[in-house]
Amino acid sequence: MKVFLNKRIPEIGITIMKENGLEVFIPENDKLSTEEWLQYCQDFDLILNVGFHQFDKNFFDLCPNIKAIALFSVGFDHVDTKEATARKIPIGNTPDVLSVATAETAFLLMQSVARRSSFYFERVKNGEWEDFDPLFALGQELNGKTLGVFGLGRIGFEMAEKCKNAFGMKIIYHNRNLNEEAQRKLEAEYVSFDELVQQSDVLSIHANFKAEQSELFNAKIFDKMKPNSIFINTARGGFQNEKDLYEALINNKIWGAGLDVTNPEPMIKENPLLQLSNVCVLPHIGSATEEARNGMAKLAAENLVAFSKGKKMPACANEEVYI
Ligand code: DGY
Repeated sequence: MKVFLNKRIPEIGITIMKENGLEVFIPENDKLSTEEWLQYCQDFDLILNVGFHQFDKNFFDLCPNIKAIALFSVGFDHVDTKEATARKIPIGNTPDVLSVATAETAFLLMQSVARRSSFYFERVKNGEWEDFDPLFALGQELNGKTLGVFGLGRIGFEMAEKCKNAFGMKIIYHNRNLNEEAQRKLEAEYVSFDELVQQSDVLSIHANFKAEQSELFNAKIFDKMKPNSIFINTARGGFQNEKDLYEALINNKIWGAGLDVTNPEPMIKENPLLQLSNVCVLPHIGSATEEARNGMAKLAAENLVAFSKGKKMPACANEEVYI
């Protein structure tokens, strides 16, 4: 079977596919327009996709030869899984292998915002290191504060565990389902969405994004948050309304924000959020560690290899395809 891989991934993934008899094609120019990408996809059986191209009805209509897709991501909000399932196309994703890296990014953002470290680093680079001033550059301590996790799954658990162990933080969470393991291991407390928003000192988003949650974090929600609270998002930028976030920050409705994902991506340099000392923005690097990216490459390749051998994908976003 022929695999279309739209961008180079760590070698381990390519090796696994080749060793298992898959023919892998990688275009020389990997900055493909949507039209070029679609054209390639039409000629292949399998796709290993890096990035967030839409896999919707239109795509499946235009590419009837596609038999299986492996995503180089855990998130699959860009895939119409119902449509894929109806066409018996399994969609592989990469859970677990990036949980530590993504949680470490959330943890980093939380600390960076609490002490405005990226802002002051910029000032030092600009020669603006001023005399010691007891009232200058005051941040806030995280010790003993309350972490609110929106979406306590694998990544949320890693973040919560770090916050509890490092800073003795109290963990509250809101999920669709109870996470009994977290309640037991982290003494995490399940709260309603409103309670989460009202009680968190740090609110960190780790949920899978669904279209109906678009801009769930907007003025109405920021108004209910604590004035000392820090908003962290390493999940999907679509969760936040950035105009409302900016207003909330300049009007002291919340204290700071750390974003690894923006709405839209990439964030343009004129975005007023970038002017604020209490904001840190990273360019969607949550899973960007050697360990996580090797794990993602391996799992994505294993998903396609399993499919080519008539087996179930080890990580499948639309399990119902196998019923
Ligand atoms: C994911 O895996 O969904 C990330 O957002 C990409 O690294």
